[in-house]
Amino acid sequence: MKSSTAAAGSLVVGGIPLDRAHAALRKIEPGTHAFYLYDLDRLEARARRFRAAFTALGPLCAFAIKANGLPALLERLRECGVGGDAGSIGELEAAAAAGIPAEARVLNGNARTPEEAEWAARHGVHSVNADHVGELDLLERSAARSGRKLRVALRVNPGVATPGHRYVATGDDEAKFGVAPEEALAAWSARSRWPNLELDGVHVHVGSQILDSAPLEQAGEVALGLVEESRRRGAPLRFVNLGGGFGVDYTDGDQEFPLESYAARWSERVSGLGLEWVLEPGRWLAAPIGVLVSEVLWVKHRDQRRFVVLAAGMNDLLRPALYHACHRIVPVRPRPGALGPAMVVGPVCESSDVFARDLALPPLEPGDLVAILDAGAYGATMSSNYNGRGRLAELVADRGKLIRARASETPRDLLARRTGERLELGE
Ligand code: LLP
Repeated sequence: MKSSTAAAGSLVVGGIPLDRAHAALRKIEPGTHAFYLYDLDRLEARARRFRAAFTALGPLCAFAIKANGLPALLERLRECGVGGDAGSIGELEAAAAAGIPAEARVLNGNARTPEEAEWAARHGVHSVNADHVGELDLLERSAARSGRKLRVALRVNPGVATPGHRYVATGDDEAKFGVAPEEALAAWSARSRWPNLELDGVHVHVGSQILDSAPLEQAGEVALGLVEESRRRGAPLRFVNLGGGFGVDYTDGDQEFPLESYAARWSERVSGLGLEWVLEPGRWLAAPIGVLVSEVLWVKHRDQRRFVVLAAGMNDLLRPALYHACHRIVPVRPRPGALGPAMVVGPVCESSDVFARDLALPPLEPGDLVAILDAGAYGATMSSNYNGRGRLAELVADRGKLIRARASETPRDLLARRTGERLELGE
């Protein structure tokens, strides 16, 4: 979030002073104390930079919708030539609703359902990443019924470890994802068993928030090895999906993923192989363009500690509680005064509802606003209704205008799913 600037004393995102965004939202949602805001112009700049870095591969860049499924954001990405990587029917529908065409939609997931297979076959996707050889029979039946071929890559577990939290490692031996390389080779060789599938791709995705390109290159090498071996066995592959994982800098420092140098090296490495490429970036595109803005509800002192109690909680941004992730937290309108340590906590009845421990912050008073930075990926999409809390409004800064792209969930919305029909148990 390095492009945020202070104007007239307030932190500004996408040209919008955050305190004024808060006031504007409260005019139409008086009960709102926190919200997400995304800078779509910055998203566009990142999308263009990402695509430019990989021009030589001419890849399909399919944004991992699990990172952020806001329709306005998907639409802007689509305008920049970015497609969608979906992990569920909900995300497939979101991609379609945003106008992302069939040839730019990828279906992922390790627990394929018949309904997902039907959706992909009926509405069309660029490809499905199958996580299990048994899944191919399911896809085959759906493809046969739809009368059109379904393109499929097998997701291979390349046995590549990644640094970082183990909950976001997906390519090592312990991870539930992918099939063994030998099993994939056997399936590609036997692909005439699935006449309605075009089983000609390999997919690898080794983890998330990767800052060093080495694990991605190792996984890529595993994929290339399989391409070569499958060709040798008489079943040539035509495309490689390298997944996502490109990390972002959550600190003030200099920990950017080396996007351009990695892309240049990899493009050089594979030039002349005649393969098609798919990439599935999520976090890299969306994390830095979003902030979670929250009111300070209370400031409580106990012993030597200062607890800054926010309106936003772990149900709104789960990453700190789930992965001990550290997001920078800054006052929207800093008050003069010395910095002092603070525990920044949310309102949820859990001791894990902590955004930061021992953070140096200036004086804060109830009613002040803070911004939690780099919250554009895996923020709103991972939020929940825990403690009976509605999910937050999502605003976008779009070419200088402030738009409420998604309204807050109200207590009434939370009651709306109540039903009472008696279910037939049968004999
Ligand atoms: N492709 C596949 C198959 C994936 O599973 C994911 C993310 C991506 C692409 C995008 O990865 P990215 O480029 O965003 O790293 N909730 C965690 C991250 C979970 C990532 C899950 N898979 C977090 O907040 O750190």
